[in-house]
Amino acid sequence: MNRPVLEGLRLNVPASVRHTELIEWVARTAALTEAREVVWCDGSIEEYDRLCQQLVDGGTMRRLNPAKRPNSYLAWSDPSDVARVEDRTFICSERQEDAGPTNNWVAPAEMRALLQTGDNALFKGCMKGRTMYVMPFSMGPLGSHISHLGVELTDSPYVVISMRTMTRMGKAALELLGSDGHFVPCVHTVGAPLEPGQKDVAWPCNKTKYIVHYPETQEIWSYGSGYGGNALLGKKCFALRIASTMGRENGWLAEHMLILGVSTPSGKKYHVAAAFPSACGKTNFSMLVPPEGYQGWSVTTVGEDIAWIKPGKNGRLHAINPEAGYFGVAPGTNDHTNANCMAMLKRDVVFTNVALTDDGDVWWEGMSDEPPAHLTDWQGRDWTPEIAKATGAKAAHPNSRFTVSSIHNPVLDTEWDNPEGVPIDAFLFGGRRSTTVPLVTEARDWAEGVYMAATMGSETTAAIAGQVGVVRRDPFAMIAFAGYNMADYFQHWLNVGAKLAAAGGAQPKIYCVNWFRKGADGKFIWPGYGDNMRVLEWIVGRLEHRAGGAENAFGISPRYEDLRWDGLAFTREQFQSVIGIDRSAWQQELVLHQELFTQLTHHLPRELPATKARIEQRLAA
Ligand code: GTP
Ligand code: SPV
Ligand code: MN
Repeated sequence: MNRPVLEGLRLNVPASVRHTELIEWVARTAALTEAREVVWCDGSIEEYDRLCQQLVDGGTMRRLNPAKRPNSYLAWSDPSDVARVEDRTFICSERQEDAGPTNNWVAPAEMRALLQTGDNALFKGCMKGRTMYVMPFSMGPLGSHISHLGVELTDSPYVVISMRTMTRMGKAALELLGSDGHFVPCVHTVGAPLEPGQKDVAWPCNKTKYIVHYPETQEIWSYGSGYGGNALLGKKCFALRIASTMGRENGWLAEHMLILGVSTPSGKKYHVAAAFPSACGKTNFSMLVPPEGYQGWSVTTVGEDIAWIKPGKNGRLHAINPEAGYFGVAPGTNDHTNANCMAMLKRDVVFTNVALTDDGDVWWEGMSDEPPAHLTDWQGRDWTPEIAKATGAKAAHPNSRFTVSSIHNPVLDTEWDNPEGVPIDAFLFGGRRSTTVPLVTEARDWAEGVYMAATMGSETTAAIAGQVGVVRRDPFAMIAFAGYNMADYFQHWLNVGAKLAAAGGAQPKIYCVNWFRKGADGKFIWPGYGDNMRVLEWIVGRLEHRAGGAENAFGISPRYEDLRWDGLAFTREQFQSVIGIDRSAWQQELVLHQELFTQLTHHLPRELPATKARIEQRLAA
């Protein structure tokens, strides 16, 4: 077999690799990036441990106190590289209208010149002095007909150890690729070449950042960031942006959704998929701890960030979690809000940008009521409660995160790795809204549900570089993740619903939720977390045609007596303040819906303005 060797560079292709196209692509990329050497990852624990040690030696990570947090590490990123960069994210389809008005677009030829082919192309020599790692990975259970394979090339060992936790990475994926298997090529660089003798920094990255997708050729090119969704290319880039374009073509859905199982005391089990924007509660809802009074109920996690959903032979939608690990938000997590999550983080975790305690453990805002008397903050500075009071300095970055394998989740669903996925009974859509949007509303039909999801607004969070707390439209929690025109995406959802109906299959019911309404004191009114079980119970009751509710302008919401209040003191007045619909606030809200529809007017499905007109009529009545 032809094994290309570049001058001065050994590609180190293992004897087991028989995929010519893969080898040639690796060779081309190594030549372009001028990597010092090439290492093919096998995904073994030995490889993981070796790279973790290397990251510790190089100052990127520190080992946490093994007596407190066995086999766990803490990484502090460059202070400029802490979140996804949406303004640097591009969908480079041949035609601009295929990217649509909500995506940044550059023509592929122009982008290729900038990144790959031009005289000063950013990827030229970008890996000088660094190792290029080759990581074959499967998104989804190995060999599942719903899964897809990818290969990421990266010059960041932090990305390698993260991808090992977040995906099925290594030998098994390579075997599935065989000699000509299809894969999504993903190229990542931190964009910090090293000259001979130049000392590396703890967190190499570049001020210039490009997160680029070519949907037609299914390629991903990422430059300049080592952080999460910018760099772990199986996640948002592949499993959402590229996969959404694959799904559109082939009749399935790639969504920013958790997937959970909810089991009832009568022994029934339902599956719910829920789309909430970044840092709006997916991980927490997917591993919810039912409150007291809910004996016999349980919630189990299939996925906590991304769902791939395909129509099954039985006419129902089946969902898999394409990921194998969780890259979750640390702040706010504690034994009261989510004991399951705290249990999951006891060992084998990589923390990024949380604070370090004096005894070598981690801390973040919200972990305990009383902060420790002294910490080292995420930027390596002294931190005390007094300093925090005086300067407002956070010990942990608000978007600090943990990376952990899903097998450590104490409520992992037994079906989480099932190649057939799980059948979906209900979809939930929920933003972070301190006003206006009720706790829960059921759509009367599929089109009304698509309308709710399409017009969803949410206050921005620290998961995105930029201003926090600004309401923006985030249709389906996919504003940053749809790899094609958002209006076409709405049409695709309508088409999927119509197909289910035509096949005589059950359309999942659709709900809009909001855990985040605030009172005049600026505090959340709804207790949230485990108490979201009360809403989930109502939804199950609706699926079983038992639970009552009242019609309103947008759909059906529970009355006070339709929810169970065992173990929670929550008055009718408080309930009214989270469920109520303020007519003038909603008239304002509909103006914002119209703004979105105006922006997306090209290809906007007629059903959406028609649904809006019906809501307006009901509001006026
Ligand atoms: P991404 O990983 O960015 O996609 O986020 P996510 O949707 O999985 O959000 P996550 O569950 O990590 O929660 C984000 C933040 O919201 C954390 O600080 C949580 O503590 C907080 N949070 C989650 N659920 C609730 C809730 O029901 N009520 C309130 N008040 N806060 C919540
Ligand atoms: C999100 O921002 O929605 C995340 C975190 O899940 S990241 O992987 O950084 O995109
Ligand atoms: Mn997410």
